[in-house]
Amino acid sequence: MFERLQQKWKVNGWRLLLILVTFAVGGSLCGYLGRQLLGLFDIESAAIRIPLYIILVTILWPFCVILISIPTGQFNFFRSYLRKMGSKLKVQSRESRVQSQNTGHTLIQKTHQPSTGSVPATGHRTTAVRIAIFASGAGSNAQKIIDHFRDSQSINIALIVCNKPGAGVLGIAEREHIPVLLIEKEPFFRGNGYVDELKAARIDFIVLAGFLWKVPATLTAAYPNKIVNIHPALLPRYGGKGMYGMHVHEAIIAAGETESGITIHYVDNVYDNGAVIFQATCAIEPGDTPARLAQKVHLLEHTHYPRVIQEVVAHLQKQR
Ligand code: GRF
Repeated sequence: MFERLQQKWKVNGWRLLLILVTFAVGGSLCGYLGRQLLGLFDIESAAIRIPLYIILVTILWPFCVILISIPTGQFNFFRSYLRKMGSKLKVQSRESRVQSQNTGHTLIQKTHQPSTGSVPATGHRTTAVRIAIFASGAGSNAQKIIDHFRDSQSINIALIVCNKPGAGVLGIAEREHIPVLLIEKEPFFRGNGYVDELKAARIDFIVLAGFLWKVPATLTAAYPNKIVNIHPALLPRYGGKGMYGMHVHEAIIAAGETESGITIHYVDNVYDNGAVIFQATCAIEPGDTPARLAQKVHLLEHTHYPRVIQEVVAHLQKQR
C-alpha cells in the first residue's frame, strides 16, 4: 500500500512519512478544533450535534492540514493536493451523471453533449474508423494520439474510457470535447465488459494507453485483433502483473540493463502477452535514474504510438 502511495504521489519513502504525519496531525487538530467550536454552542440534541460536527471538520480540515504542512515542509504537496481535490469536485459538478439501467455503470456525459443515456456516436464521416482510447493516467499518450488524428478523415478518436475518476486524461477529454465512459470493476470483469456501450458508440478499434486493468475475454472476443496496448519496456521481459509505470523502470535500472524501450502489441486476456506489432529501443546511460528512463521511454511512445496505430488501422481497413 505504501509503495502504491509513493508511486501515486511520486514521492520517496521519507516524504511519504512526512505527508502521512501531516494528514494524521492535521486530522487530529481538525477534530480537536471542531469539538472546541461545538462546545461554544449549547446543543444537546445529538441529531444536530453530529451533522454540525461533520460540517465543521469538513470545513476545517483543509486549513488544518495546510497549517501542519508548513512545519513538516509539505506545503507544496498539500497545496496541489487540495487544488486537485477542488478541481475534481468542479469537474464532477459540471458533469451530468446518467445511470445506465441495464448495467448499473456510471456514464459521464459532458454537458455540451446531448444526454441520451448512451455514448453518442457523434463525429466524422460514417466511414471513419472510430477509436476508443482506454486510459487511466495522465494521458500524455492519449493527447499525442488525439493530436495526430485531429484532422484525419479516416480515423476518429470517438471516446475516452477511464476507470479512475480524477485521472488527468479526463481533463484532456473535456478540453478536446471527447465523450467519456467512466467504467467500474463489477460490470467490466463480471458483466458485459462494456461491449454493449462500445458497440452503441460504434467503436471499431480500441487503444490502451496507460490502462491498468486486465482486459476481459468478453471484450477481446468482441474486438479480435482490434485492441492494442503500449508497454514501457521490451516485452517479453519486464511485463506481466505489477509491471507498470515506475515499477518497470525501477526493475530495469536495478537489473543494470543497458537498453530499454517500448512494445506495441495486440491485447489478449493475459497481461502484456499478445503478439508484438512494434518495438523501439533507447540506451540506458550510466547514472540514468528510473525517472530519466521514464522520460526517454515516454519520448519513444509519443513518437511511435500514433503512427503505429495508423498503420494497424489502415491494414484493418484494407481487410474490410
Ligand atoms: C505509458 O508509459 C505506457 O507505456 C503505459 O502507461 C503509461 C501511460 O502514460 N502503458 P500516459 O498516461 O500516457 O502519460
